[in-house]
Amino acid sequence: MELIQAGSNIDLTGAKLICDRGECGGCTVMVDGKTIYACMMLAIDAQDKQITTVEGLADGDDLHPVQEAFIQHDAMMCGFCTPGFIVSSAALLNENSKPTLEEIKGGLSGNTCRCGTYPFIFDAIETASRKM
Ligand code: FES
Ligand code: FES
Repeated sequence: MELIQAGSNIDLTGAKLICDRGECGGCTVMVDGKTIYACMMLAIDAQDKQITTVEGLADGDDLHPVQEAFIQHDAMMCGFCTPGFIVSSAALLNENSKPTLEEIKGGLSGNTCRCGTYPFIFDAIETASRKM
């Protein structure tokens, strides 16, 4: 079976198809405001739903506070996991604008970073939470 990068045919390449089995979080998007692993949802089940990818968080050239904070804290190395982490972080802050470190860790427990940038990601979310 040929795996096709999610969104590559519509120029939305943020969400990454990595594990394709609901384990890594690289494909995380919001569907009607709730995060899901895109690899675990059939396209037909997404019909008529509002889907937000990492691209949809920015307002034109104005980045979302989480996106700005990831840059500020250099919270990425290879960057492959980053879109999923940013979408999960934005969803976390939508539900809890002032999370504790433990709540941040819990909120991001479905995302994996093989480069180990977790401390920078956690710092970025704390910074973003102060701006939101
Ligand atoms: S590619 Fe969907 S969770 Fe890993
Ligand atoms: S920055 Fe490389 S996997 Fe997270």
